[in-house]
Amino acid sequence: MLEKIIILDFGSQTTQLIGRRLRELNMYCEIVPYNKFPENDESVIGVILSGSPFSVNDAESFKPELTSIRKKYPVLGICYGAQYLAYSSDGKVEKGDSREYGRAMLTPINTKDPLMKGIPENSQVWMSHGDTITTIPDHFQIIANTEDVQCAAYHIEGENTWGVQFHPEVYHTEVGITILDNFLTICNAKKDWTPANFIESTVNQLKEQLGNDKVILALSGGVDSSVSAVLLNRAIGKNLTCIFVDNGLLRKNEFEKVLKDYEHLGLNVIGVDAKEYFYQELKGVTEPEKKRKIIGKGFIEIFDQEAHKLKDIKWLAQGTIYPDIIESLSITGHVIKSHHNVGGLPEKMNLKLVEPLRLLFKDEVRRVGRELGMEEHLIKRHPFPGPGLGVRILGDITPEKVRILQDADDIFIQGLRDWNLYDEVWQAGAILLPVQSVGVMGDERTYENTVTLRAVTSTDAMTADWARLPYEFLAKISNEIINKVKGVNRVVYDISSKPPATIEWE
Ligand code: XMP
Repeated sequence: MLEKIIILDFGSQTTQLIGRRLRELNMYCEIVPYNKFPENDESVIGVILSGSPFSVNDAESFKPELTSIRKKYPVLGICYGAQYLAYSSDGKVEKGDSREYGRAMLTPINTKDPLMKGIPENSQVWMSHGDTITTIPDHFQIIANTEDVQCAAYHIEGENTWGVQFHPEVYHTEVGITILDNFLTICNAKKDWTPANFIESTVNQLKEQLGNDKVILALSGGVDSSVSAVLLNRAIGKNLTCIFVDNGLLRKNEFEKVLKDYEHLGLNVIGVDAKEYFYQELKGVTEPEKKRKIIGKGFIEIFDQEAHKLKDIKWLAQGTIYPDIIESLSITGHVIKSHHNVGGLPEKMNLKLVEPLRLLFKDEVRRVGRELGMEEHLIKRHPFPGPGLGVRILGDITPEKVRILQDADDIFIQGLRDWNLYDEVWQAGAILLPVQSVGVMGDERTYENTVTLRAVTSTDAMTADWARLPYEFLAKISNEIINKVKGVNRVVYDISSKPPATIEWE
């Protein structure tokens, strides 16, 4: 049985990071709301309490009963988690002063404590809390402090319970990964979470869950849906049918390229050319949200039609990944995020849902893809929005504009590959502006379109910065686009970060 650590989520923004760090240590873990501890799960070997946006003194803060958990498992409280353990043992937690924010230097007091193993003096840690423990309960032994925080880390005597008032999960805490690893040693963890193990157990699980049932899956060309498809193909082979829709808003030759890639992976794929249908539906529409809705609805329409041509389909597979799931479980009231491309499909089609990647983070999806033998260019493909070039053609969409943008985008992307810059950026693409400007070509005055190039660096698309691409590269691409793409006489580079801008222009 695969061992797991349970992370009880008290709503901190860094809860997901705790999960990612443990997974980096090859430790399987699950994040659950603070009050949803899986009581009878025998695979649990330890529990981590996350931070929280609340103070333990707030009336609305989360205060679950932890006695039985503390008796049964090693527990590590992080920030709010540590303060809550102190608070519920009659300690006192009060508002701290601002010196306790941000960077601090940690010094272990009890170097024999297993949580502090290998932690040198003056190790940089990251504090991020408005509160601090001011009265330390009797049976709490302080195991480390900082200049401003006396009880930076503690162990509860007679128990397998620890607390740290800083965040070991953030990169700024240099010794964070060592502390988390020390906790895993305390839990006697085998640390056996590897892509190969994931594939083996997921394939077995899928076989059992799906039996001889038939499954359909919407391919987008992106990593998540591709890895889901390859995994399902391993489990149920020809009972999986993939549908890949050309909505006329894909990159240049993308439809053909993607179909070819999947063929090589041995997948059973139906490619549907629905370009004309989408162009017709989108004719004359300029409002961004309306365009998005039409593209989304059109996709569901086409997918549904194709699915009905197949017989006895019972399941719809989706490439949902863990961050989507965590967000929808979130205790702090986020709206549930529907999977962009297939939102609304499950309801309409009355199919059961299977989501083989639902417990993986994005970097893990890539590792699993590699282990499955998928080619690097498929795994490293930049994210591409479901509505495709539809949100990169500002204003109304026509086949001619799509042609112009596809050609410009292709030169840009190919250029990034040729200059070995493709993997340096998170995402790149071209945008066609509804702006014409004057230019001169040879002896002639031109009055033509403007293309914007956008390339960003990011780790999760929540924030992004514009990529500092070399001037020589930009000059070369600009020249090539203006010379080769009929209808474009000006190229500009977008130097906005997110926030306040977004990655896409619509
Ligand atoms: P923004 O523009 O919000 O984009 O900064 C963040 C990331 O999400 C992608 N994106 C979408 N993906 N359907 C998708 O599947 C959409 O409607 C959509 N809108 C934005 C965007 O490409 C970037 O990676």
